[in-house]
Amino acid sequence: MTTYFYYPNREMQEELACIAKALVAPGKGILAADDSINVMSKRFAVIGLENTEENRRLYRQLLFTTDAKISENISGVILFHETLYQKTDAGMPFPEVLRKKGIIPGIKVDKSPVPLFGSMDEFTTQGLDDLPQRCAQYKKDGCDFARWRCVLKVDKTTPSFQAMTENANVLARYAAICQSQRMVPIVEPDILTVGDHDIDRCQKVTETVLSTLFKALLDHHVYLEGLLLRPNMVTAGQNSNKNNTAAEIGLATILSLRRTVPPAVPGILFLSGGQSEEEASVNLNAANNVPLCKPWALSFCFGRALQASAMRSWGGKKDNMLTAQNELIKRAKANSLASIGKYMSGSVEGSAGAERLVIESVES
Ligand SMILES: *[C@@H]1O[C@H](CO)[C@@H](O)[C@H](O)[C@H]1NC(C)=O
Ligand SMILES: *[C@@H]1O[C@H](CO)[C@@H](O)[C@H](O)[C@H]1NC(C)=O
Repeated sequence: MTTYFYYPNREMQEELACIAKALVAPGKGILAADDSINVMSKRFAVIGLENTEENRRLYRQLLFTTDAKISENISGVILFHETLYQKTDAGMPFPEVLRKKGIIPGIKVDKSPVPLFGSMDEFTTQGLDDLPQRCAQYKKDGCDFARWRCVLKVDKTTPSFQAMTENANVLARYAAICQSQRMVPIVEPDILTVGDHDIDRCQKVTETVLSTLFKALLDHHVYLEGLLLRPNMVTAGQNSNKNNTAAEIGLATILSLRRTVPPAVPGILFLSGGQSEEEASVNLNAANNVPLCKPWALSFCFGRALQASAMRSWGGKKDNMLTAQNELIKRAKANSLASIGKYMSGSVEGSAGAERLVIESVES
């Protein structure tokens, strides 16, 4: 039985809560620019660009040197290890470029999913061994928050009890370690959209996964006021032959969150999980318009759903930089409006249009 409490001390609690609050300030969300080198090669392949360190630097420079007004809609950016130590043409480190705009730098700290032996072909995520040292260094190098993703797959017999408890425990240990190094953990239990399940199944799985996760977070004395959740939206599987309306998706999402996420958590920042840019905005907007009490900020932590049009407009050409940056600003504004429930469907068009991303692997 628990007798003593080991939450972070008062000063750490204040620092963590303050960072978390800034990340979910009204009308703001997070840009996930932390695609791994492998994933970048897939993104670049679409625009016919070679996946070199210099091309990755040029692309991230484009994102981070976008006009400072983007900071009215973007509170933080998640970086990949390599990106944290890259610089602009003029020699300014990327984290400094972001700070100057009032954007908080964060970092992906997990080392990717690996097979979970003895499970139903499921996964766990590695990277805990040297995490305290890595977090201490990242904090020194300017990052105030971190991100760690675990994946769960939906099938007739999954997610298994083994996968749910293992991944909840890994996420809880990651979160506790981050907090000990004064970094806000973004906790990401990503229920994959692969499969032909319907929305009701996804809702039940989401509720079970989140309740398992919050039990583990409490067992590990994670300070909930200094943590952010990045869940999937509740949708049918990508191979299901049924399309649900945004209102149905919003309702199923809010129902599952209300049943499992304590009001102590300051914010929930959704994954876009393969949705098109427009779908992601419309669904976020719908979630914010569900007429039930929602005690947390409900915003976005989108990767491709903020960048697809920008990357396409850029196409690897210097002359297209400004056009691409404008695409990013447009999506940031659209999602900013969606995060306060004021986005009008179809009011912002991007060059990537309604293009969806079919998820084939667990890589991130
Ligand atoms: C998003 O940023 C714009 C400026 O680019 C600002 O006018 C707008 O108020 C911001 N959106 C929200 C919902 O705060
Ligand atoms: C569902 O929507 C997608 C994207 O708009 C479309 O391609 C697909 O045909 C729709 N499926 C059904 C069964 O209506």
